[in-house]
Amino acid sequence: MSVDLSTRYLGISLANPLVASSGPNTSEADRLKQLQDAGVAAAVLPSLFEEQIAHQEEQLERLYGNQADSFAESLTYFPEVGPFGTGPDDYLRLVESAKKAVAIPIIGSLNGSSTGGWTKYAKAIQDAGADALELNAYLVATDPDQSASDIENQYIDLVKIVRETVTIPLAVKIGARFSSIPNFARKLIAAGADGLVLFNRFRAPDIDLDTLQVRPEVVLSSPHELRLPLRWIAIIRDHLSASLAASTGIHTASDVLKGLLVGANVVMMTSVLIKQGSGCIQEILREMTEWMEQNEYRSVEQLRGSLSLGNCPDPSAFERANYMKALVEYAMKH
Ligand SMILES: Cc1cc2nc3c(=O)[nH]c(=O)nc-3n(C[C@H](O)[C@H](O)[C@H](O)COP(=O)(O)O)c2cc1C
Repeated sequence: MSVDLSTRYLGISLANPLVASSGPNTSEADRLKQLQDAGVAAAVLPSLFEEQIAHQEEQLERLYGNQADSFAESLTYFPEVGPFGTGPDDYLRLVESAKKAVAIPIIGSLNGSSTGGWTKYAKAIQDAGADALELNAYLVATDPDQSASDIENQYIDLVKIVRETVTIPLAVKIGARFSSIPNFARKLIAAGADGLVLFNRFRAPDIDLDTLQVRPEVVLSSPHELRLPLRWIAIIRDHLSASLAASTGIHTASDVLKGLLVGANVVMMTSVLIKQGSGCIQEILREMTEWMEQNEYRSVEQLRGSLSLGNCPDPSAFERANYMKALVEYAMKH
């Protein structure tokens, strides 16, 4: 029996549901080519950060503004702000070179929080040739006067602005810390998102006891983190017709299958690609095809959502009752 792995994400047809998410693996045309050759069906480029754009604009303002004379020399002291040592112009060149190097869809990524002028780069990314745009909205609430709905409204305003700026499909990547994800997801779609990426991994800083410094640190994911996206995709799948991407903790063929079963259109991977390289893709595709054949699924379409909240034989497993059951089972075993 042959298995049809094709899927659709953000209105775009993909050969299979494996997408390389935003990160170092997608930061160069050569690496994108390797991912494509290994079987990845689409790739999200690393983000262009609001801070990178603000930094460049500040430099230009100083260079061509009043302080041109005094500032020109000090420009050399500015550190590069981008995680991959690039500014906005380099980013647009990356989009162009990616499009030339590979045939798979290329999704640009913008990462920020304010509704300022940096959002105009959404259009620049579209003009550079991106097939779609992912907006990674990352806000940390530190002001006690700001309510949960103030924060949500800031996300919504950002999505509306970016939606008005581009005509290509728009995905919004969010973290998992919202009081009502189903309600918020619906608002993001109403604001113009064609799809949601669930979830971003928020980086919490650590403390260095030797230097007493607060340090940001990148820690790669482990597969058990997939449980959060699984639960929420299962819950919102039946309420939304938008595309959904499962992100965080996808490491193996089993993780991919679980993501599809709860209703994801695609699954996204970064940590496993950093750890194992693009060689793991073929193995994942082979194992998922084998499982689908053994379990008599003819296509990803047929598989998708068969364990969403509405379709699953025991919906309480995704809800609160699961908590008590898990504790009772644990107590009986130990
Ligand atoms: C080193 C590194 C760099 C990343 N850079 C970005 C980025 O620029 N923009 C973004 O939206 N996500 C970025 N991410 C997050 C990943 O796209 C992904 O959402 C996260 O790692 C969870 O997926 P995983 O479990 O497959 O790693 C980065 C992750 C890592 C580990």
